[in-house]
Amino acid sequence: MSSRISARISAISESATLAVDAKAKAMKAAGRPVIGFGAGEPDFPTPGYIVEAAVEAAREPRFHKYTPAGGLPELRQAIADKTLRDSGYRVDASRVLVTNGGKQAVYQAFATLLDPGDEVLVVAPYWTTYPEAIKLAGGVQVDVVTDETTGYLVSVEQLEAARTERTKVLLFVSPSNPTGAVHPREQVEAIGRWAAEHGLWVVTDEIYEHLVYGDAEFTSIATAVPELGDRVVILNGVAKTYAMTGWRVGWLIGPSDVVKAATNLQSHATSNVSNVAQVAALAAVKGDLSAVERMREAFDRRRKTMVRMLNEIPGVLCPEPQGAFYVYPSVKALLGKELRGRRPQTSAELAELILEEAEVAVVPGEAFGTPGYFRLSYALGDDDLVEGVSRLQKLLSEAV
Ligand SMILES: Cc1ncc(COP(=O)(O)O)c(C=O)c1O
Repeated sequence: MSSRISARISAISESATLAVDAKAKAMKAAGRPVIGFGAGEPDFPTPGYIVEAAVEAAREPRFHKYTPAGGLPELRQAIADKTLRDSGYRVDASRVLVTNGGKQAVYQAFATLLDPGDEVLVVAPYWTTYPEAIKLAGGVQVDVVTDETTGYLVSVEQLEAARTERTKVLLFVSPSNPTGAVHPREQVEAIGRWAAEHGLWVVTDEIYEHLVYGDAEFTSIATAVPELGDRVVILNGVAKTYAMTGWRVGWLIGPSDVVKAATNLQSHATSNVSNVAQVAALAAVKGDLSAVERMREAFDRRRKTMVRMLNEIPGVLCPEPQGAFYVYPSVKALLGKELRGRRPQTSAELAELILEEAEVAVVPGEAFGTPGYFRLSYALGDDDLVEGVSRLQKLLSEAV
């Protein structure tokens, strides 16, 4: 008898980050004072001028109809202009595909590039969606593991050691989710030149481009290494920069053949992204960056507080991230210790104990391919942040 669910789809795991978030929200709804460090979204509302543009669009009959599957022409042009402004990367609007959030861009990029057995180099810790998108496309993920000793930066030597005859794509994400690592320009150039030299494709996820702190600078690998030519695909979206996670607008920029093929796929899967959301995204990318600047200042302050407080806990080692809105401390030294009558052996077990005992939600490193760590988002209010980390300090200092 054939199974009810296909092998391809049963192999997909639940998003661990959304699962933690859902559990924390359910506990909260049941009246427990849970503080959630799980969410990957800014705690700010979408700026008013963006919301107003959407309200006006909803009243316009032409936006009540189907529009081109690849995106509203004016939005594709505005994304091309914004890419030149922010990344120095010149691209024609015809090479922009507007997608339902960055997530659909991730799926379509791998679906378009990979044949069964093609290998993708993925720097671990990695964001939870990549493995599923690669697997669904029949690709084979090859992990290149980084750790806290290098601030989660990857080197050309590590990548070269993982390259085989079957390697087709390097996935490059800087600033990174979950580590917040930002690769310095020289390293981005070296990695890009290495990829170009070996004829690899580079898929680069630039969704956190505007969230960098201190001396760190975002470098677009596509611009820094022109030798990549027509083998580079950029993924991006409005979610993180403009606090627009719920609006679901992202994009993929690539060579004409890739964009055309991915648009064909999208035309059957979802057609155009909601016109109202596209008009909101148009207002966002055409506008200035003052809203993200205000969020960035708040995130920077919270980042410093969080790193300081986490490093005060014996057994927790937290490198200072330079981008995005996550910290990724090692908790390896706490595993196997006794805590409230239990002895958690893995970061997943420790995270569960913390949720039950301290009512604090963190995402264990198992979700990102590196057990022994936690990911904590600092995209939450300052008071909650301090309260949540204080609870962690209190609980974890009991470990013996
Ligand atoms: C690295 C990275 N890329 C892409 C996305 C996709 O964002 P969205 O689908 O909300 O646009 C996320 C969201 O968490 C992310 O962290």
